[in-house]
Amino acid sequence: MDIESLIGRLDLSAKVRLLTGADMWSLPALPEIGLRRLVMSDGPIGVRGEQWSSADPSIALPSPTALAATWDVALVRQAGRLLAQEARRKGVHVLLAPTLNLHRSPLGGRHFECFSEDPYLTGELGAAYVEGVQEGGVGTTPKHFVANDFETDRFTVNVRVGEKALREVYLAPFERVVQAGAWGMMAAYNSVNGTTMTEHRALQRDLLKDEWGFDGCVVSDWTAARSTAATAGGGLDVAMPGPSGPWGEKLEAAVREGRVAEEVVDDQVRRVLRLARRVGALEDSPGPGPAPAAPSPTAGSVPAAGGTEIDGTALARQVAARSFTLLRNEGGLLPLGAVRSVALIGSAAGEARVMGGGSAQVFPARVVSPLEGLRGRGDVEVRHAIGTDPRVRLAPLATPARALFLDATGETLAEHPLAGTEARWVGSLPPDVDPARLAAVEIRTVYTPGASGPHEFSIAGVGAFTVKIDGDTVFDGTITAEGGDPAAAFLSPPERRITATLATGTPVELSVRHPAGAFGGMAFVSFTLGHADPSPGDDALIAEAVGVAAGADVAVVVASTTPEVESEGFDRIGLALPGRQDELIARVAGVNPRTVVVVNAGSPVEMPWLEQVAAVLLTWFPGQEAGDALADVLFGDAEPGGRLPTTWPVRQSDVPVLNVTPAGGEVAYDEGLFIGYRAWERAGRAPAFWFGHGLGYTTWSYDTIAVTGTTVTVAVTNTGRRAGREVVQFYLAAVNRDPDRPARRLAAFDVVDAGPGQTVVTTVHLPERAFQIWTEEGWRTVSGDYTVEAGRSVADRRLAATVTL
Ligand code: BGC
Repeated sequence: MDIESLIGRLDLSAKVRLLTGADMWSLPALPEIGLRRLVMSDGPIGVRGEQWSSADPSIALPSPTALAATWDVALVRQAGRLLAQEARRKGVHVLLAPTLNLHRSPLGGRHFECFSEDPYLTGELGAAYVEGVQEGGVGTTPKHFVANDFETDRFTVNVRVGEKALREVYLAPFERVVQAGAWGMMAAYNSVNGTTMTEHRALQRDLLKDEWGFDGCVVSDWTAARSTAATAGGGLDVAMPGPSGPWGEKLEAAVREGRVAEEVVDDQVRRVLRLARRVGALEDSPGPGPAPAAPSPTAGSVPAAGGTEIDGTALARQVAARSFTLLRNEGGLLPLGAVRSVALIGSAAGEARVMGGGSAQVFPARVVSPLEGLRGRGDVEVRHAIGTDPRVRLAPLATPARALFLDATGETLAEHPLAGTEARWVGSLPPDVDPARLAAVEIRTVYTPGASGPHEFSIAGVGAFTVKIDGDTVFDGTITAEGGDPAAAFLSPPERRITATLATGTPVELSVRHPAGAFGGMAFVSFTLGHADPSPGDDALIAEAVGVAAGADVAVVVASTTPEVESEGFDRIGLALPGRQDELIARVAGVNPRTVVVVNAGSPVEMPWLEQVAAVLLTWFPGQEAGDALADVLFGDAEPGGRLPTTWPVRQSDVPVLNVTPAGGEVAYDEGLFIGYRAWERAGRAPAFWFGHGLGYTTWSYDTIAVTGTTVTVAVTNTGRRAGREVVQFYLAAVNRDPDRPARRLAAFDVVDAGPGQTVVTTVHLPERAFQIWTEEGWRTVSGDYTVEAGRSVADRRLAATVTL
């Protein structure tokens, strides 16, 4: 039956019911019209599913900055197809991704979750991601529309931004994914020029829907809809989560009282049903396959609708290697030739930081650490030393645990296994737990110490907790929330420490009990039992690491940010590596000239030791196959294919656009068009590494450039001794440039592979938008002469030609 007829069969209250979540992650079923429950899930590196726990594993791909560093639209599209496969396996219809906000300031807490500082690169990769996911019959909601480029006061902050910057910079990637056919869009928390985005009629209705012709569904960010008539009239289609919220009966009343026209509700319902039909949640859907299958236990191994199965593990490893960005390689130290011993240093070498924090978190079924990856090669002796542990919160124990769901009498309602001591049920409880009877959740595990001495334990969470070790109560108290972000209670909860002296090899029983329930139909259970072995202290750890490094052929130091640095819900306070890692690296480099620093971070960090180390390999947040991909690249089985999608400063104080702290409730984007490399060029400052930089393992000559109309053809030759891949970048500059405009913009790019001595030719078409500027009258194509330059980064341009328009 066509959608209009279905709408005609619904009364007002049924229509309105369709527009608010039935729970944390889904829209309600309406069996009378053949509509199944429509399930949404975060994104963007995997598909977390309806549970927020290791009980529901997902593939974990590298984070979006890594994906962007590949500059490879075909690979990103394939990643999208894998995510669709995961979504279908887990019964998810809509993936809450990709994140298309920009790297305006490196202090942005979700920088790792966004692709790039460049709107064109972001748009091309975003479009490939959307196309890949949707080809698998799963919807997307590019987010967060718009100008959610930092986290501080994100629920209330007003971003003041001019029309030109909005159109040419911040809206551009969203416009591109609408062209690519996105089925959804997520409205941001923040305000833009005085109006909160979920009520922003000018941007959501007039621009997104009317001008761009978006026929999909606008979903609010979680709890972002805070009014009834203003959001409905402002172009929002779905308020998440539910079942409570600002719509429901209130929206029904607003329609009856004439404050919201029924045609508005009809259009919202039309968009929801269209989405449902596209993702196969509406009976007689012409979608690409059956409704999503019931969840099955194996991550990453179920065929995508209508396609062949994608091997998630292999793809995660390939994407990671292709994203690794070689920033420095003195004397060609990498790839490592015949080495007998490697000193592998850093706490992140043993426990890699594979993803950023917040709603981007997924639970992979396995994680390969750098230590496991390097040891897996077998032919090299690998000695590991922590050096220093920069983490502020203790990590959960990775011992198998049990979660007991208890009623008020202490009787067990249900029991579930956990892969570690992290307890999290946000939105929904396991299906066999009766929310009405739930009074407490207890996690239990048995831990066998590997070392004697004072062990540190922690409880991180908000509320009352009782912690016992071998039956003795070691903590019994209440922890209260800090800060103003409502999500912070589970994204970055406060922590209390307990010290207990334990003996090697003697198992102890650990338990944490926490009163819990479901409020207004929504479960919220979130706490972690953390642990750290007895430590001799950082001075001794650094000294030990220096000793290990001095005796090895090569020292590899894995330096990382922490969950306190890069996460949702807050911004970064600085760009320095946390803890004493800078000191550790400098000391190691002092004893071993063959020191490689592996930077395991989702966004820029200062590298004060840069000139002292032989090589720097940026591995971003590399996803679950981190260690195997690292071994592939260090030993030369794979090319470090990455190029920077964002400019890396020497020092924080050099960064031209930094501020993310609202003043008077506002952040003004006064820099206009000048973010990223455009701002660095205008400021005349040199960063540590420019946008587009990345060395790879071979060398390239840029041979010829030819222009026909707006088509540009370039020949490049691999002048090295091994096969490699090059990202050929095309920058466009108007010859008679308005001095108030950026010097140049990225206008096209292509990834090419070539064997030693081989010449390859690439042809790109410069898009019309590259020749356009936004004016008071709208888009204007500026005719005249342009210089198009092909090169290896925005600062390393090798060939130039003239394009006349
Ligand atoms: C985030 C979104 C996410 C949503 C659901 C919000 O806090 O901003 O990106 O999709 O939560 O988890």
